[in-house]
Amino acid sequence: MVTGIAVVLCATAGAAVAQDVITQRRDGMKNMGRQMEAIKAVTDARGDTRPLVERIDTMLALYTGLPALFPAGSGTGETRALPAIWSDRAGFEQMDATMVTQLGVLRAAAAAGDVAATTAAYGQVGATCVACHRTYRGPAR
Ligand code: HEC
Repeated sequence: MVTGIAVVLCATAGAAVAQDVITQRRDGMKNMGRQMEAIKAVTDARGDTRPLVERIDTMLALYTGLPALFPAGSGTGETRALPAIWSDRAGFEQMDATMVTQLGVLRAAAAAGDVAATTAAYGQVGATCVACHRTYRGPAR
């Protein structure tokens, strides 16, 4: 009986941990949307891209550690993560690595103050957001 209670408590704690990591990655992604809007405002205005480096570093911080925010068992709950994240782990990690590479290109362009190159790299980054969501993010449920 005592063992039964311990098992229930452990299962509940596991679910709580999964929900924490889900909240963390969803908040992180929401922040990515805000960073992208801010970058677009500058490229649209053909403004100074150099201060954008700080925003791009914030983005790099999330994507560098993204796979760790999708541990096994975090595919259920308040999440749109698709099972493919775990069944095609190599593909998911490759997609994330592409994002990190493209953010490196964006960072270099922004640091150089090159508006045209920043605009082009921004487009590539945006396309990878869409590509990953198409494959690994499901409808709201
Ligand atoms: C490697 C895959 C991947 C990449 C790259 C990626 N996303 Fe996501 N994104 C996801 C997944 C998976 C979810 C669903 C997370 C969940 O619900 O647990 C998500 C969710 C989101 C959400 C919804 C957050 C919420 O719950 O309200 C936003 C906004 C978002 N992403 C923005 C972006 C932006 C902007 C980019 C590009 C800069 C991007 N994402 C790149 C996989 C990715």
